[in-house]
Amino acid sequence: MPKNVAENLAKLKAEQNRLSREHLRRMFKNDPQRFSNFSLNSGTLFLDYSKNIVDQEAMNVLLDLARNSGVEQLRDKMWAGEHINLTEDRAVMHMALRHQGDDDLHVDGENVSAPIRTVLAAMRSYSAKLRNGEIAGSTGTKITDVVNIGIGGSDLGPAMVVRALSPYVSEIKPHFVSNVDGSDIADTLAGLDPETTLFIVASKTFTTDETMTNANSARKWLAEALGDKAVGDHFVAVSTNLDACAEFGIQEDRIFGFWDWVGGRYSVWSAIGLSVMLAIGPENFDEFLAGAAEMDQHFLTAPLDKNMPVIMALLGVWYRNAFGYSTHAVLPYDERMGRFAAYLQQQDMESNGKSVQRDGSTVDYATGPIVWGEPGTNGQHAFYQLIHQGTDVIPVDFLIAAQGETDYPEHHEKLVANCFAQSEALMLGKTADEVRSELEAQGLSDSEIEELTPHKVFPGNRPSNTIMYQKLTPKTLGNLIALYEHKVFVQGAIWNVNSYDQWGVELGKQLAKALLPKVQGSADAKDHDSSTQGLLEHFHALR
Ligand code: F6P
Repeated sequence: MPKNVAENLAKLKAEQNRLSREHLRRMFKNDPQRFSNFSLNSGTLFLDYSKNIVDQEAMNVLLDLARNSGVEQLRDKMWAGEHINLTEDRAVMHMALRHQGDDDLHVDGENVSAPIRTVLAAMRSYSAKLRNGEIAGSTGTKITDVVNIGIGGSDLGPAMVVRALSPYVSEIKPHFVSNVDGSDIADTLAGLDPETTLFIVASKTFTTDETMTNANSARKWLAEALGDKAVGDHFVAVSTNLDACAEFGIQEDRIFGFWDWVGGRYSVWSAIGLSVMLAIGPENFDEFLAGAAEMDQHFLTAPLDKNMPVIMALLGVWYRNAFGYSTHAVLPYDERMGRFAAYLQQQDMESNGKSVQRDGSTVDYATGPIVWGEPGTNGQHAFYQLIHQGTDVIPVDFLIAAQGETDYPEHHEKLVANCFAQSEALMLGKTADEVRSELEAQGLSDSEIEELTPHKVFPGNRPSNTIMYQKLTPKTLGNLIALYEHKVFVQGAIWNVNSYDQWGVELGKQLAKALLPKVQGSADAKDHDSSTQGLLEHFHALR
């Protein structure tokens, strides 16, 4: 029987109606304790959620929703290794990859901790030797550049992490090729020397067309320069499909495995993180894992009302289902987090972009929101206009470090001031009276004031979270990623969707395969619709 999710969600509507007469400006004025009542410290991360359209009563209803939706039960099943990924009949055990204890974890009666430790040890040993030159390229020259070839979860996590942790990158320069668009690999290889380049073919399945196409082109580039025999010294693989890696010609001791209970978008903690470990070194990678484990412990043990991922998930459900807001912006005031929103797009939208419940019945409520964002302050000069005065309300997460780039302290103070100013402006808004007195002070005439006022009014009452951390370190980043992973889990549990499959990406892949011979001109396109036929004809005329 499907859980009665719609009924549970309907209870939020009454709360939303009650609060629709409120304004955050007034709520702050009436409650001097609002900030302390609606903020949380998980250890490494601090969450201020006081600038959300909630009061304690609404929070209590939301917390009841979490309880009635069986969030805690599903969380415990996940951690116990049960097959909560129903459609693929798999466990969801990415937390095991970063578990810090000496105890063993089990999936289907098998101890998974032992192979996790073995692969991690192999990664550490390989990384240390590659970084110090003990393992070199085929000509004996030190490897200086590593190209990770992968896509989706086999690319976005590592690419986001090495950019975020650029101050920790040493010895090895990481590069990422993901798109089947030849310009991606062409532009990457253009700056590289085959003698000093190592390729990581990163693919859970080792069948993904984009990745295999790029891997074959990289192999050709390398073999043309250094000969076929050099391939073994310049390629490693990360996959669950060990046979396919061997078939590609990867040496057995250069294949780093992982397991089907690690979802692609949750795999940066596994050997998929090899490019990260090579770039930042094993010790920093360990810190990254430890940071995620810290958030796991918080998620597994903190009571719901003090549980950061739970609170963030509930606020997301609140806006998605009671207010009908369809997008959610993640705006790091941290330039190095430039790929964080892109990473979260896969984590969130591939997980909860679903229209059926876990038993296959159709949902009759909204599920995953559209997630997007860019770092501040750049975004302020691009799309913030719409966030402040547009007709859509967009709940926002601001992310900010207390300590920024040490060489430029003045920059960081300005960055922080901008970040706090944005959440304040969204919350307060600016009333017509305030606008009028401002314009009066500027000496404008009455008619000018009347004309300009409506354009300068900000409605305010626009919600945001602010997540603060001391410094963007490997540990902080591990915490942050795990925070959003668990947020997505909680929302999936409430919406009763399977957050761990991704059938929605299959149809396009199948059709691309069928279309390729028609694009190549070796088959006719009569079986396609007139638009597709027309596009093919136009393409052939132009090529
Ligand atoms: O986009 C679909 C998907 O299956 C993702 O879930 C996955 O992260 C990506 O493709 C790459 O898959 P693989 O690691 O098997 O190449």
